[in-house]
Amino acid sequence: MCGIFGICGTISKSSVNQCIEGLKKLEYRGYDSSGIALLDEGGIQVVRSTGKVEALEKKLNHLKDKKTISIAHTRWATHGGVVEINAHPHLDEEGSLALVHNGIIENFYEIKERLQSEGVRFSSQTDTEVIAHLFGKLYTNDLLTTTSSVIQQLEGAFAIACIHKNHPDTLLVTTRDKPLIIAVEPQSGQILVASDLNALYEGEFEIFYLQDNQIALIEQNKIRLFNKDLIPLNPNFEPVKIENTPHFKGEFAHFMLKEIYEQPSAIRRTLEGRYDIELNRILLNLPKSFDEVSKKVQKVIFLGCGTSYHAGCITAHFLEEFVKIEAQAEIASEFRYSEPLINPDTLVIAISQSGETADTIGAIREAKNHRAKILSITNVANSSIIRESDYYLLTQAGPEISVCSTKAFTSQLTLLYLVTLYIYQIRNQGLSSHPNWLKALRMLPAQVESVLQKKGEIQGLAKKTVNFEKVLFIGRQYMYYTALESSLKLKEISYLFTLCYPAGELKHGPLALIDEKTLTIALLGHQPTFAKTCSNIQEVQARKGPVLALYNKSQHLEQIQPEYSFLIDQEILEPFKPILYAVVLQLYAYYIALEKETDIDYPKNLAKSVTVE
Ligand code: AGP
Repeated sequence: MCGIFGICGTISKSSVNQCIEGLKKLEYRGYDSSGIALLDEGGIQVVRSTGKVEALEKKLNHLKDKKTISIAHTRWATHGGVVEINAHPHLDEEGSLALVHNGIIENFYEIKERLQSEGVRFSSQTDTEVIAHLFGKLYTNDLLTTTSSVIQQLEGAFAIACIHKNHPDTLLVTTRDKPLIIAVEPQSGQILVASDLNALYEGEFEIFYLQDNQIALIEQNKIRLFNKDLIPLNPNFEPVKIENTPHFKGEFAHFMLKEIYEQPSAIRRTLEGRYDIELNRILLNLPKSFDEVSKKVQKVIFLGCGTSYHAGCITAHFLEEFVKIEAQAEIASEFRYSEPLINPDTLVIAISQSGETADTIGAIREAKNHRAKILSITNVANSSIIRESDYYLLTQAGPEISVCSTKAFTSQLTLLYLVTLYIYQIRNQGLSSHPNWLKALRMLPAQVESVLQKKGEIQGLAKKTVNFEKVLFIGRQYMYYTALESSLKLKEISYLFTLCYPAGELKHGPLALIDEKTLTIALLGHQPTFAKTCSNIQEVQARKGPVLALYNKSQHLEQIQPEYSFLIDQEILEPFKPILYAVVLQLYAYYIALEKETDIDYPKNLAKSVTVE
C-alpha cells in the first residue's frame, strides 16, 4: 500500500511543502521511500529518497518556493527493493511524464517483457514503471484517450496520478479498486488529490471519490470526468470539513506507549451511549433491519487481518459459547480465495482499524457475492470498508498512529462484545442479569487502568527476559487467541521470531523447540483449562524451558513455580480476560522493543494500513 498526494489549481503556497505535509499524513500507508515530481516551465523535476518522508524533505530545499502542479508518493515496497530507483514518481523514457501509483499491476511482467522487446529501457524493478512506459508508448497528444488505452491493458489494482509536460495545467488521475479522492477547496481554488482524507489539511473541501475505471482531468477551474469508454460524467461532490487534530506524542516516548495508555478512555468512549445499565439493554443504534438479521442469522463469520483477525477469533469463541450460533473467524486473505459456505442467513462481521485493508475489502466483496449481510467494525469514519458494508459501527479509539495496533484492538473487542450481547438480546428478548454483562463491561476501563499501573513490574520482566532470541506463546481457549495477538505484538516491534500454539498442541511437535534459550510465555487465564495448561508448562520445564506465566488472582502456581510470573489481580468474566492479558503483553512487547532500540512506531518492512493484497 502506498500514499498518493497531488496538488493543482490555484496554488498560493509552496506546493513542495504542501506535498510533504500530505505525505507525512499518509506515512501510515508505507514509509520505505518517497518522492515528488513537479511541472514548471523547466519541465518535470523529480526528487526521490529512501526512508521516511523527512529524508525526502531534506533534499527539497531548492524547490521550496515552487507553487506549481505536483504529485508525490510514499511507498511500501511490493515489487523491487527499498532503493531510490524504485521510489516513485516514475518517468517514461523521454521524461515527458511522471506518475505515482498505489496498487499492484498483476500483468506487469508480460507488459514489461513486451516493452523491452520493443526497445524500452527500464531503470527500476517496480510494476509502476511499466505504467509510465506504457503511457509514453501510447501517448497520442490526448491524455484522455491515452489513459483509456493504458488502463485497458492493465490487470490488477491501481490508483494513478500523472503529470505531462505537454499538458502543464492538467493533473490526471484514474483508479481501479484503490481509493483516490479529489478535493476542491472553494475558498482558495486549490485542488488536491489524495489516497484518503487523512492527507488533507484543515479546511472545508468539496470531495469526490473517484470510482473504478474513471478518469479525471483536473485543471485550474475545470474537472472533467469520464468512464473508461470516455463517456463524460458529472462528479457528485460532497462537503467535508477537515479538522486536523495534529498527532502529538505528548510526554510519551512513542505513539505506541501513548496509545496503550489511551485504552481506558478509548474503551470508555466505545461503550458510551451503547448500553443502558438501568434497562440492562444494549443500544447499538443500527437500522431496525439489523434486528431481523440478528433474529435470523444461523452463522457468523468474522473477517480480518492481523490484530483485527485476532479480535474476530476471540469474539467468535464468545458468540458460540454464549449465543449458541455457529461462528468462525477467517483470515481475510484466505477467505477471499476459498469457496465459503455462506448464504443470506450468514452475517459477516468485517473488522478493520483502518477500514482500508485490501484483503479484508476483497473478502467482503466475496461474501457479498454469496449474498451475506455485512457489518463492519472500523476505527475510521468515511473509510472504504464502510462503503462496502450493509451496516457499520465505529470504535472510538481515536486516530491510531503506531503501526502496532493496541487501543484499536481493545476497542474492537469492546464493540464486538456489545454486538454479541446485542444479538443475544434480540434472540432472547433481553439479557440475563447473571452474569451482569453490562456491569462487567463498565468496569473494563478501570481494570485496564489497574493493569497499566503495574508498568514498572512489566518493564522489569522485559529487562529480565530481553536476551531470549526465541519466544513461544501458549494458551487455551480465549487465552490462545490472546496469545496469538501478543505473539504478533512482540514479533512486529522487536523483530524476534515468536511462535504461538494452543497449549495442548505442544506435545504434537513444538515441544521439540524447547531448550534453555527459548522462553515460553504461558497465558493461564482460562480457569476451566488451568490445570491442563499447568501440565503443559511442566512439559516445558521438564525440558529445561524457562517460563513466564500470566495468571489470575484465584489461581495458584505452586505446582509449576515458573521463573517469571505476572498476576492479573482483577475479577473479570472469562470472555473479557483477553483485554487485560493483551494490555500486559502490549506493554511487555513495548519494553522489549525499547531495550532493543527498534523503530517502535514505524517497524521495518511494515505499514499501518495494507491497501494492497
Ligand atoms: C497490528 O499490530 C498490525 N499492524 C497488523 O496486523 C494490522 O492489524 C492488520 O494489518 C490489519 O489492519 P486493519 O485493522 O487496519 O485492517
